[in-house]
Amino acid sequence: MKVELIDIHKHFGSVRANDGVSMTIESGSIHGLLGENGAGKTTLMKCLTGYQTIDSGTIKVNGQPVAFASPAEAIRHGIGMLHQEPLDFPQMRVLDNFLLGFDTRLIPDRRAGQNRLQELGTRFRFELDPDAEVTSLTIGERQQLEILRLLALGAQVIILDEPTTGISAPQKAKLFATLRQLADDERRSVVFVSHKLEEVEQLCDRVTVLRHGRVTGEAEMPCPVSTLVELMFGRSLPPLECPTVEHGPPVLQVEGATIPSYRLTVADTRLEVRSGEVVGIAGLEGSGQRLFLRACAGLERITAGRIAIDGKALSHAPYRKFLDAGIAYLPANRMDEGLVTGLTLTEHFALANRTGPFFIDWQAARKEAAERIQHYNVIGRPESPVEALSGGNQQRVLLALLRQKLRLLLMEHPTRGLDVESSNWVWQQLLARREDGTAIVFISADLDELLEYADRIVVFYGGRMLAPVAACDTTVEGLGYMIAGKEPGAGAQQGGAHDEA
Ligand SMILES: Nc1ncnc2c1ncn2[C@@H]1O[C@H](COP(=O)(O)OP(=O)(O)OP(=O)(O)O)[C@@H](O)[C@H]1O
Ligand SMILES: [Mg+2]
Repeated sequence: MKVELIDIHKHFGSVRANDGVSMTIESGSIHGLLGENGAGKTTLMKCLTGYQTIDSGTIKVNGQPVAFASPAEAIRHGIGMLHQEPLDFPQMRVLDNFLLGFDTRLIPDRRAGQNRLQELGTRFRFELDPDAEVTSLTIGERQQLEILRLLALGAQVIILDEPTTGISAPQKAKLFATLRQLADDERRSVVFVSHKLEEVEQLCDRVTVLRHGRVTGEAEMPCPVSTLVELMFGRSLPPLECPTVEHGPPVLQVEGATIPSYRLTVADTRLEVRSGEVVGIAGLEGSGQRLFLRACAGLERITAGRIAIDGKALSHAPYRKFLDAGIAYLPANRMDEGLVTGLTLTEHFALANRTGPFFIDWQAARKEAAERIQHYNVIGRPESPVEALSGGNQQRVLLALLRQKLRLLLMEHPTRGLDVESSNWVWQQLLARREDGTAIVFISADLDELLEYADRIVVFYGGRMLAPVAACDTTVEGLGYMIAGKEPGAGAQQGGAHDEA
C-alpha cells in the first residue's frame, strides 16, 4: 500500500506544527520520520490517521485521495498508529482489550478472538496471557498487544510514535525484529517516528527529517550521521562540558532496607549517596529499581533496615516528611503521576508552589510560569493545557516544576523522550544543582546516559541490588552483562546485595 502526504498544513494557534509537509510511504519498507522535539512528527502522523484534521493538503492511499474523519476510519483503510504517550488502558483483560473495535463479522466470539490473538502472538513471538490484566503489563507488553490488535484489524501501514521510549533492551530487539518481519511483506509498511538517530540508522530503509514543521531532507539509508544531525538541528552539536564537583557528607543512607511489593520484594538494599554525587541505576524493567527509588522518596514502605536523609532516620515517616527533608521525585510516567491532564502550565506552577492550604496567588503563578517556560525553553504558553505540548516539552515542564533548593533529587528516566540537544541541556541544568550540594539518583534505560552522567552505577537484577561500580571503571558492554544477570564486570562482586566498596 502506498501512502502520500502532499503539502500538509496544520497549525495550533500561532504554532505551525506542519507547514507544507510532503512525504511518501512506499510499501515493503520501514520509513523513518526523524526530528527534534516539537518538530511536528506526532502532529503529521495524527493528521494521517484521523486523530486530527488538517488545515489543508492532500492524503492519498494507492493514488486515491482520502480524508479520514476518525482513527476507526483510518484503520478500516489499513492505517493504524501506536501512540507516543501510551493511551489510558482501562482496567480490563488482555483479550478484551484485543477485541476492542472489532466488528462481529471479523471476530464473532471470544473463542475466535482468543484463537486470533494466539495465532498472531505465535507468528510474532509475543507471549501475552489473554487473561492477564492489562494494567499488569509492562509498557513493552502493552505495545505488543496494541501491535497485534492493529494487525488483526487489518493494518497495512503501521505507524509507531517513539516506540522505544520506556521499553527494555530485549523488548526493543524483539520489536525491531517484528518491524522488519512486517516490512518484509511487500504489501505492508512501517513508519518509525523517532528522534533517536542510532535507532533510525539501525532500522530504517529511508528517512524523512522534519524541523520546525517543515521537511528539511529525505535520505536513503545508510546515510552519514553528520548529515542527519544537520538536517535535524541545522548545525552540529557543541560538545558538552560538565565541571566536576567535590562530594560532601552523605545525604542519602539506605542500610539493609527491604521493600515488599505485590509482585516482587527487594531485600537488603544498601546505598550511600553523598552531597554533589550522581548515582545512576540500571536494570531491566521490573527488576526492583523503581521500588527502591520510590522507597527513597517515601512512596513505598520498608519492612526492615533504615533510610536516613542528612543523618536523620526517615524509615517509616510519611511522604510529607520526605518532602520536608528536601527530596523530590520525578516519575517516569508523566501523564499518570507528574502532570495533570486538563490543567494549564500556570495551574501546575500554582499547585507546585502552594505553601498554605488556602490561597493561590494567581498573578505570581502566571509570572512564574512565563519565566520558567522561557528558562526551560518549553514550547507552550502559560495558558496551554499540558496535554497540548509535545512529549519532549511535557518532560521539560516536569523538570521546570522541581523546587529550587533540594537535598536529594530522585528521577526515573529524566530525559526520556528528549532529543540529544534537549537532553544535554537538561543534564546541564541538573548537574548545576550539585553545586548547592544536591545529591542525584536516577534510573535510566540508556546506558550511555548512565555512563556519561553518573559517578557510580548500581545495577538491579531480579529483585537484587548489585554493588555499585564506578562509572569510569565500566563500559556499555560491562553494564549490559550485569543487567542481563551475567558475571558482573570489574568492580562488582557476585552474590546478594553488598555494602559499598
Ligand atoms: N493539541 C495541540 N495544541 C496546541 N499545540 C500543539 C498541539 N499538539 C502539538 N502542538 C504543538 O505543535 C508543535 C509540534 O508538536 P508535535 O507533538 O507534533 O512534535 P513532535 O515532533 O512529535 O515532538 P516530540 O519529539 O517532543 O514528541 C509543538 O510546538 C507543539 O507544542
Ligand atoms: Mg511527538
